[in-house]
Amino acid sequence: MLEDNSAATIRIFDSVEEIVESLALSLKSLADECVKENRNAHISLSGGSTPKYFFKFLLESPYKFSIQWDYLHFWWGDERSVAPEHVDSNYGEASRLLLRHIDIPPENIHRIQGETLVEKEVLRFSDEMTKLMPVENGRPQFDWVILGMGNDGHTASLFPAQTDYETDLDAVAVFHPETQQPRISITAPVISNAKRVSYLVLGKSKQEMVKRCLAMLSDVDTCDYPAARIHARAGETQWYLDHDAAALLTEL
Ligand code: 6PG
Repeated sequence: MLEDNSAATIRIFDSVEEIVESLALSLKSLADECVKENRNAHISLSGGSTPKYFFKFLLESPYKFSIQWDYLHFWWGDERSVAPEHVDSNYGEASRLLLRHIDIPPENIHRIQGETLVEKEVLRFSDEMTKLMPVENGRPQFDWVILGMGNDGHTASLFPAQTDYETDLDAVAVFHPETQQPRISITAPVISNAKRVSYLVLGKSKQEMVKRCLAMLSDVDTCDYPAARIHARAGETQWYLDHDAAALLTEL
């Protein structure tokens, strides 16, 4: 039975700037550790709008030049079934806001190819993860998975009532339950295999679901909010919140 540490660290910040500064410091520390240990780190980025703050901060701060980007490999937790230049593309957003402006080797960028037939891309991306990343517990192991949370409790493109938490797959093709937009997502067991999982959740609109998810953390296996249930089983899980997202939390 794999160790299962569902405990999470909840951090509530006074501003978005403080949150992204904290994340940037973590990224710098991880890169410095890789330089010392002469190894690469594999980081999965989330989609949606929240990561924009992080990308913009990294670009406008000294971190743009102080982080040794060539030791970092960037992946995505999910991607919409669109071309990289499409406004909905998670890779496209990261590229526009950060990646094309920093000194990172192209081979360190591992986008999910949204323009490819989803059934084919699921296999290709799974194969790329397994080939290029360390494999632990039979799964590719990320150093760090950064995730968002939807108002329905989804994360990546793993949605309530349609997520297989025990799948043997490392990536899956899914449909967004409301828009029916085809997407590709890494799976719950791959996220749970990471050394570190960080949920980055901001704003009033998320406060009800944040309250529900954090209330479930002591009994995650009985809930079907992927953002609550999916955590680093043997690593560390954090929730980075602003006061608006944390407004309904009482005892912490
Ligand atoms: C996506 C994301 C998704 C996102 C949440 C939160 O591709 O949309 O992976 O899981 O993180 O929906 O989105 P916001 O940051 O826009 O609130």
